[in-house]
Amino acid sequence: MSAPSTTLTARARLMHIARNVRSVAYGALLPFDSLFRRLNRLSLYPPIHLRRHVGCLGGGFNGPGYEFVVYLRLLAGLRDGQAIWDLACGCGLLELALADLGWEGRVVGTDIHRPCIQWAQRRLGKSLKQHTFEHMDVFNAAYWPAGKLTTAQWLEQFDARDFDVVVAKSLFTHVLPDELDVYFRGIAPRLKPGGRAVLTFFLLDEEQARASAEGHARMQFHPYEADARCSVRTALAPTAAVAYPRAYVLERLREAGFNTDRCTIHPGVWSGRPDGLSFQEIVVIER
Ligand SMILES: C[S@@+](CC[C@H](N)C(=O)[O-])C[C@H]1O[C@@H](n2cnc3c(N)ncnc32)[C@H](O)[C@@H]1O
Repeated sequence: MSAPSTTLTARARLMHIARNVRSVAYGALLPFDSLFRRLNRLSLYPPIHLRRHVGCLGGGFNGPGYEFVVYLRLLAGLRDGQAIWDLACGCGLLELALADLGWEGRVVGTDIHRPCIQWAQRRLGKSLKQHTFEHMDVFNAAYWPAGKLTTAQWLEQFDARDFDVVVAKSLFTHVLPDELDVYFRGIAPRLKPGGRAVLTFFLLDEEQARASAEGHARMQFHPYEADARCSVRTALAPTAAVAYPRAYVLERLREAGFNTDRCTIHPGVWSGRPDGLSFQEIVVIER
């Protein structure tokens, strides 16, 4: 029994070393990156190591941010003057795109990665007056190991309410089942009645399984031995990419107080489905 766990620990350590080496490599690229951003008038955009943290090194600097403004407008009915909670906002790329496309309203952006939030507060806070960025000092082994609170404790002291829209883009693809429930129960009461949550996932269902069996999938997930409710890409770094059965997510949302009769799921292309909209599944659901 001890051999596999020893191997796992050794491999996890190697993973940690690899992550540190990667950070040093991005650090070395910083001077070139800042010159590039200055020359191309992109200085409102975050530096390379923060863009990497939020997984946005491609996509024309902020392709996914602009893509999501369209989804918020068309799928969630976002209008000017409304209030958004951007849960796991990273360094505020969505907020930059919202402002650039002329949306006017209030955003509260929160994330557990302090460097991202500090950057957003310093660089975006001044120009985007209606937007505030708040650090969630929540312990997370992979994304914020210095955190002092649990997710539930942080939510207890987060008193913002009455949002028209809550968006969590690429958050629940990094969250394991117990924390998923805590977030669902934290989001629902913070929405106005009839307000909408726009949440992205990797969802597992029959059509996704068929596309995967036919060899079309861009990512593969495996049942997670430590928690049968989800699947992960690698057990070594489970929160790097987490997938859930579609029915499970809907059930948990219903339990948390969402109206599953007022819910639309837009398939993602990650699974190789031909009818995908964005990369991940987008669930739009009303409170
Ligand atoms: C893929 S990035 C997406 C960031 C942002 N939504 C965007 O699209 O630019 C995932 C974000 O989730 C944050 N994150 C990861 N696990 C989290 C957790 N358990 N609770 C809150 N935030 C988390 C990370 O710090 C990171 O900023």
